Formats: sequence, C-alpha cells, structure tokens
Amino acid sequence: MKYNIAVIPGDGIGPEIIGEARKVLDKVGMVYGHDFQYTNVLMGGISIDTHGVPLTDEALETAKNSDSVLLGAVGGDVGNSKWYDVAPNLRPEAGLLAIRKGLNLFANIRPAYLYKELSDACPLKQEIIGDGFDMVIMRELTGGLYFGERHTKEVDGVMTAVDTLTYNENEIRRIAVKAFDIAMKRRKKVTSVDKANVLDSSRLWRSVVEEVAKDYPQVMLSHMLVDNCAMQLVMNPGQFDVILTENMFGDILSDEASMITGSIGMLSSASMNESKFGMYEPSHGSAPDIAGKNIANPIATILSAAMMLRYSFDLDMEASAVESAVEQVLKEGYRTADIYSEGCKKVTTAEMGDLIAKRIGKEQEDA
Ligand code: NAD
Ligand code: IPM
Ligand code: MN
Repeated sequence: MKYNIAVIPGDGIGPEIIGEARKVLDKVGMVYGHDFQYTNVLMGGISIDTHGVPLTDEALETAKNSDSVLLGAVGGDVGNSKWYDVAPNLRPEAGLLAIRKGLNLFANIRPAYLYKELSDACPLKQEIIGDGFDMVIMRELTGGLYFGERHTKEVDGVMTAVDTLTYNENEIRRIAVKAFDIAMKRRKKVTSVDKANVLDSSRLWRSVVEEVAKDYPQVMLSHMLVDNCAMQLVMNPGQFDVILTENMFGDILSDEASMITGSIGMLSSASMNESKFGMYEPSHGSAPDIAGKNIANPIATILSAAMMLRYSFDLDMEASAVESAVEQVLKEGYRTADIYSEGCKKVTTAEMGDLIAKRIGKEQEDA
C-alpha cells in the first residue's frame, strides 16, 4: 500500500535525524511491501530564510493532504540566532505551533521507558531505578500558555510582558479521554498533574478529569501537583503509568523524563488529532550545539516513525519490528555519544541508522 508522508527536516540536527528515520522506513517498505512516498516540507528557520515566514499556507496544505507528518526539529540557538529578535509570529517555533494548531494536534503522546541496556546512561542510582520504568506522558498540545494572548508593552512607565493561560472544559475533556483510553491498554493508572493549589485553569482541569474518570471505573486516577511530580520523577519513576497534563507542564516534565531514559535523544512522540492523523516528532529540539557533526542520536526520531506506523497506518507488526531493531542494536552495545558508556561501541548518527535499518527483517532472512 502507498502512504504519503509529509517530511519536515527543519533546522539544526533535523535533516540528519530525519535522514536516518527515512532509511529505516525505506527498509520497512522493502521488507514488508509498502510504498512510502515522501514530500519535503519547509518549516522553521529554513522556511524563514526561503519564504520569509516559518510556515507557508502551501506547506500547511501539503501537511494536511498527507497521510501523516514526520518532523525533525526547528529552531536556532535561542538568544543568539538570527531568528530570535523578530516578531513572535516570525520565529521558527511559531511554525511548529501553527502546524500543531492548524492540524488540530491536541494530543501529544510521549512514551518514556528505560531500556535495560541503558541503565548505565540513566543518571539515577540503581536502587531508584529498581525494575525500571515505563510511562507515557499525555501532554495537551494546542491550548494553555502557548496559545494565549501575549504582548509586551509599557505600563505606567514599566516594561511589562503578559502571557495568558486559558483552558476550556472541552479542551480538557478530549485530552483526558485520550489519556484514559491509553491507560486502559496499559497498567490502568492515570496521574493527572496540575497546579490546583494556585491556578484556576488547574482547578477546572481537575474537576473535568474527575468527571471523565467516571466513565473508566477500571482506571485508578490520582492527582499530583506539578512541582511534586518533577521531584517524584527522579525519586520513584516506576510509580507512573500515564501522566496527563497541560501543555507547558508536559513540555517541562517530558524533558525531565527523557533524561532518566538515558538521553533526550531517546524520547519519541506522536501529536494526534481526533482521528488517526498525526505528526511524529522527537521530543528534543534542533540541538544547534551538535548540528552537522553526525553525532546526534537518531533513535527518538526512528521510534517516532515507529509510532507513525502503529497509530496512523495500523502497521503494528512493522512498528514492532522497528522497536525490536532498536532494542537489538542497543543490546549489541552500539551507542551514539549521548548514551555512550564505557565498554560500548561508539557510533555516528548515520551508523546508528544503518545498524537499525539492517536489523529490520533479519528474522525473515535468517529463516
Ligand atoms: P535541544 O533539545 O535542541 O537540546 C538540548 C540538549 O540536548 C543539547 O545539549 C543537545 O545537544 C542535546 N540533544 C538534543 N537532541 C539530541 C539528540 N538527538 N542526540 C544527542 N543530543 C541531543 O533543546 P534546546 O537547546 O533548548 O533548543 C534548541 C532549539 O530547538 C531551540 O530553537 C528550540 O526552540 C528548538 N526546539 C525545537 C523542538 C521541535 O522542533 N520539536 C523541540 C524542542 C526545542
Ligand atoms: C517541544 C518543544 C516545543 C514546545 C517548542 C519548540 C515550541 O520544546 O516540542 O517539546 O515547547 O512544545
Ligand atoms: Mn520541549
């Protein structure tokens, strides 16, 4: 079958890691008989340089008309980049926010689990890691502070900046439903994370989540304040199954969760709308500090492509083949620099992609 994938390499390490994900998808296509067609789409800094805006209407249309979107990362070295000191809607990240909103991708699924092989790369002590952890962060992606009114102006002679955090009950309900649905297929535990001791939006969040929970009597719901959750993640990560939270909290907590898996280069993600359509993107950014050096870890992007196979195309077997190939390569001791520990074999971005691609379909060849 033919699948049309809009591919957005973006900036920094984006093109490097996307190249490896495509390598892996091509191998999946070859082994399992699928035809993956790619349409290149500009977004972020590269689109600003080419078209003057971070996302053109045509680029958004191309993404909309595709079967799914695969994204690398956008943005420059924040603060020092040529794309920093410009109007908010002209920054690389504005392209990302526009495509998320434009495609209604309100549900961001970020799985964080520890491969046994990477326990050396995990900064936590063995007694804290215990039997490991396996959680999914369900992050609301099209509301909250990112999309509220914002401005900077002088008020009574003082420069004042305003960002507003708004959620309505429908936005909260639809992400909560997704979280409970996912929990039903896992260990049936939802931890809803908020700041209900201070914020109105969090109090509404809590009450709507409670209401949704009534439809899922088998799922155990608990609430946790976000500051406590940041601490619990490094104290006892094994306690979490599904973490449900709003946009900004989810952004911060998922970077924290990524590091305890060994590296942010390991954390995949899927950004979904109500249907099966999704944009698949690593949780990390464009890593300008290591761009062009062929040392970035492509695994987060490769695992995001696996999520695409499973969630958008219903290709469960193919997704599992990619995930097993990643596991196999880690078992064999291959590591990019970010997850390297003594005694392992250090490989480049491209070598890691090759190794993973090569192991897909190996079972068939061996048989
Ligand atoms: P970052 O995630 O790009 O990098 C943080 C640190 O992690 C850096 O030291 C980097 O080298 C390292 N790192 C990230 N990905 C890695 C990988 N695959 N392999 C090895 N190391 C990796 O975050 P940042 O430095 O805060 O942001 C850089 C730019 O990326 C900014 O412009 C930011 O806005 C943008 N950004 C984009 C996305 C996205 O497009 N989805 C996500 C996050 C940040
Ligand atoms: C992410 C990124 C983005 C976010 C930025 C680049 C707008 O950090 O995908 O986690 O905050 O959502
Ligand atoms: Mn982030």
